[in-house]
Parts: sequence; structure tokens; C-alpha cells
Amino acid sequence: MWASYISCCAVPSAGTNSALAVADGYALRPAAPDDAPALLRFGELLLAESSYFLRAPGERARSVAEMRAIIDHFCAQPHYLLLSVWQGETTVGEAVVTAGEFQRNRFSATIGVGVLQAHSGRGLGAALMREMESFARGRRLRRLELTVMAPNARARALYERMGYVEEGLKRDSMFVDGGFVDEVMMAKILA
Ligand SMILES: CC(C)(COP(=O)(O)OP(=O)(O)OC[C@H]1O[C@@H](n2cnc3c(N)ncnc32)[C@H](O)[C@@H]1OP(=O)(O)O)[C@@H](O)C(=O)NCCC(=O)NCCS
Repeated sequence: MWASYISCCAVPSAGTNSALAVADGYALRPAAPDDAPALLRFGELLLAESSYFLRAPGERARSVAEMRAIIDHFCAQPHYLLLSVWQGETTVGEAVVTAGEFQRNRFSATIGVGVLQAHSGRGLGAALMREMESFARGRRLRRLELTVMAPNARARALYERMGYVEEGLKRDSMFVDGGFVDEVMMAKILA
């Protein structure tokens, strides 16, 4: 299991284990502000090729400056994590953890994950899930939760394999490609 990150924005340096090998040719590390151009391109591609996200194309960052502001925001929050998978200079996967900001929900966090189609099926999604959990355990979070669109069999199978349990159904909560879609609520308690 990989080391947990001390800081969301810790930029790896040569010879440290901050950037961790995931699979052949891939490395995983928290995003840093200077990654904004690569993360902007990644986000545009990811949203263009998948309808399974809340955001449609154009609803993430619309400029490098906006993307940098998002990364800055994640870096400023000790219980937020924005994790990227890299193949060389290209971002090919991402995971986010956002813990509650109030006293009563601060041990509960929402997670999200995405991997570009061309790089899927190589264990990157599972690696991101494991690293999010490691981050959460390091911060003594109790609960990780997510929603997944009901037809997204691949993601649901991944979450179940990682120990997430279905807790309910949000009927017709999304409007995608002209039709309403249910979302499944899933969560994992970190005992
Ligand atoms: C879902 C997603 C994160 C998975 O990432 P990934 O890197 O492909 O995941 P992994 O390679 O670690 O694991 C994929 C698993 O799904 C399995 N799988 C592949 N296609 C499947 C399908 N149609 N139904 C069920 N399982 C499937 C694979 O066999 C693999 O399982 P295994 O490791 O036991 O063999 C990625 O495909 C993705 O980003 N999809 C588009 C966006 C998305 O759906 N995000 C989640 C929104 S809630």
C-alpha cells in the first residue's frame, strides 16, 4: 500500500516516493497548481467521452485560470484531495475527496473517480479508489460516499469490489441525453 500524502499539493521530487508507480508507465500524485493546463485538457476529454458524470462538457473549468483556482481550492483544504494519474505529461485519470465542512459532517466525505477510456481496464480506477481510502484513513474519516448512475455497470462493479454498499436509489435524479436516469447511493464505512 502506498504512503499517504502529507499535503494535497505536495509536489514529488526525484528520488522520493511521492509519485507512485501504479501500472507500467503511469504515476499517481496530488494535483499541483502548475498542473492546471493538463487537468483542463483531461477534464474536457473525460466529459466529452462519458455521460456518467454530473457535469456535461463545458461545466468543469473553462480556462486554465479557472482550473488553477479549483486546484488552489483543493490545496487549501486539509480534508480535500485532488489526485491525478499521469502518463508522462498527460493526465489520464483523476479522483477527488471532499470531506464535510461542518462539525457534524466532517468525518464524512464524498468521492469521485474518472479514467479516460483509452486507459481504462488497467487497474487505474481501483488504484485511485485505494489511494482515496488511504488518504481518508490518514485523516480519520469515517465514511466515504458517492452516487453512481444506475446504468453504469462498470463503475458499480468497481465500487462493490472496493467494499462500497448500496444505500438507496435517487429516482430520476439525472437528466441525461434526453431521458431521466436513477442514481444509486453507495458508501463505505472505514472501521
Ligand atoms: C469506472 C472507471 C473509473 C473504472 O476505471 P478503470 O481504470 O477502468 O478501473 P479498473 O481497471 O481498476 O477496474 C475496472 C473493473 O471493471 C470491470 N469491468 C469492465 N467492464 C465492465 C462492465 N461493463 N461491467 C462490469 N464490470 C466491468 C473490469 O473487469 C475491472 O474489474 P477487474 O479488475 O476485476 O477485472 C472508468 O471506467 C471511468 O472513469 N469511466 C467513465 C466515468 C465514470 O463512469 N466514472 C464514475 C462515475 S460515478
